[in-house]
Amino acid sequence: MQLDHVNIATPDADGAARLLSDLFGLPVVKRTEVADQGVKVVKLDCGNAVVELTEPLGPDTPVGRFLAKNRPGLHHLCFRTPDIRADVARLKAKGVRFVNEEPTIGAAGLPIVFLHPASTAGVLIELVETRPAAEGCAQ
Ligand code: CO
Repeated sequence: MQLDHVNIATPDADGAARLLSDLFGLPVVKRTEVADQGVKVVKLDCGNAVVELTEPLGPDTPVGRFLAKNRPGLHHLCFRTPDIRADVARLKAKGVRFVNEEPTIGAAGLPIVFLHPASTAGVLIELVETRPAAEGCAQ
């Protein structure tokens, strides 16, 4: 599967973006707020994938709760799939647990699911249904 994006939770998305952009020459490709997820998102282009920096808009949001329990850092990885339902069935057959196995529509308007980190080496993993050759970040 192709990597779509790496998501990092941070209390300061713009500051983290400036730092990583300066250190690694990664241009900012998008800066947005997703109200229903309670996050500000800054996306850095890495060529074949995107680094997403998400800053909570308040403490009572998924990323706000994450940062109350964890240090800033890796929040999730996202892989692309051409057929999300087929992959959910395939992974369920392998005993993988899901946060949500019924696809929901993500911020980019594409179907997404999250696998439970207990099944995936401790890392929250998102799948997004998109074309393998799609440019940039899907969500
Ligand atoms: Co994501």
